[in-house]
Amino acid sequence: MKFIKVKTYEELSKIAADIIADQIKEKPDCILGLATGSTPIGTYKELIKKNKNGELDFSHVTSFNLDEYIGLDGEHDQSYRYFMNNQLFNHVNIDKSKTSVPSGCTDDPEKEGAEYDKRIAEAGGIDLQLLGIGNNGHIGFNEPDSYFTGPTHLVKLEPSTIEANARFFETIDDVPKQAITMGMASIMQAKKILLVASGKGKKEITEKAVYGNIDPKVPASILQVHHDVTVIYSEE
Ligand code: F6R
Repeated sequence: MKFIKVKTYEELSKIAADIIADQIKEKPDCILGLATGSTPIGTYKELIKKNKNGELDFSHVTSFNLDEYIGLDGEHDQSYRYFMNNQLFNHVNIDKSKTSVPSGCTDDPEKEGAEYDKRIAEAGGIDLQLLGIGNNGHIGFNEPDSYFTGPTHLVKLEPSTIEANARFFETIDDVPKQAITMGMASIMQAKKILLVASGKGKKEITEKAVYGNIDPKVPASILQVHHDVTVIYSEE
């Protein structure tokens, strides 16, 4: 595991965008695994700059997002599909039909999850997976548990996650209580993984994930057994 510590969020965003850009340049039709949340916003801004100045072409890229809230469709301004369109897809030359976010409006999350995993496998698997980390150590919406869950599946969000994400909703009661998330199997099968964490509030949990015991109570700690992980942490 490569652990890069930088001072500013700007540095983090630039380094992360360079790593993603290198992946796209090396394999223009690569499969990217993408994340939402506050942390990757700066990375997406840097990628947009690279696309606008002609340095980076997204036209052959395929992407799969980690997760979606149950009950929110893509038009909802707090859905992760909406976030991705706004923060990245609408501003680069990616073919939106090649971008996927699990459906939060399914009657059958198990079937949706199995189909999502099948589509990732049929596309050839994820070349580079971008991750954030929750205050409780979650990756995707894989919350602390007594075991690591494999496939894309339905999860009940922890009170601490609902609280953390309430900042984006009018009231905490508006935050969905469930989500559909890629499981550890889909994440761990990615050829490369890039985790970004920023701010003092994420320091302890990020260090625990990188240096602590491998423990499903700290879901990100499983990344220690992956062969190609880069973690970028910025103090700011
Ligand atoms: C988002 C996701 C989550 C976030 C995590 C950190 O798709 O899967 O695991 O990466 O909750 O969120 P921020 O970056 O907002 O602190």
